[in-house]
Amino acid sequence: MNNTTPFPLPSKNPQLLEFLKSRRSNLAKMMEGPGPDPAILDDILSVAARVPDHRKLAPWRFIIFEGEARERIGAHLGRVFAAQNPDLLDRVEFETQRFMRAPTVVGVVSSPVECPRGTPEWEQRLSSAICCYNMCLAAQAHGFGAQWLTEWYAYDPEILSHLGLTEGERISGFIYIGTAVTPSQPRPRPDLSIKVSRY
Ligand SMILES: Cc1cc2nc3c(=O)[nH]c(=O)nc-3n(C[C@H](O)[C@H](O)[C@H](O)COP(=O)(O)O)c2cc1C
Repeated sequence: MNNTTPFPLPSKNPQLLEFLKSRRSNLAKMMEGPGPDPAILDDILSVAARVPDHRKLAPWRFIIFEGEARERIGAHLGRVFAAQNPDLLDRVEFETQRFMRAPTVVGVVSSPVECPRGTPEWEQRLSSAICCYNMCLAAQAHGFGAQWLTEWYAYDPEILSHLGLTEGERISGFIYIGTAVTPSQPRPRPDLSIKVSRY
């Protein structure tokens, strides 16, 4: 399909509905290798980037952690954690292993574009959140486990600067992707009767 071909009108897609209705995250700590190969990861990222985006600003970017890069970021996490928590040195080793829980981790950076009287920053942040969700769905549709995590290092200025985030950028999530080896347990879902009203 080229750029000028109109898209087909929406049609029933019960398989997609079933997928969404039965969706559950997979725990990063229960993931193993392998992760997605480069072609599949590209596909997952292209789905992640195909999100509603007011004014086509693409106000987000992705940072991939694979292989020994996970050890390098882990070592940095350990150093920062140790410096900030001298009384918790027995947890440093655990912190160095966080990115080792899955073979592939993708950091989704919310990167709002200066847009005076244009797209509000809030909407740009929302767009980056949907990248995270789409990335999880695409990874699972490829048969991998996926979990959207933030944890402390998504908010730590030292870590953010180390990752090259600029002022105004924030982490929307770290998406852990790998082979799920343990089925997820059911999770209670909100009672829609108290969440939905009619105007
Ligand atoms: C922005 C955001 C950050 C999250 N960060 C964490 C986290 O740091 N730790 C965690 O256990 N779950 C976190 N979660 C929740 C999990 O990703 C997951 O959604 C949750 O376990 C519920 O599972 P479900 O996706 O199957 O409904 C986060 C979710 C969102 C939307």
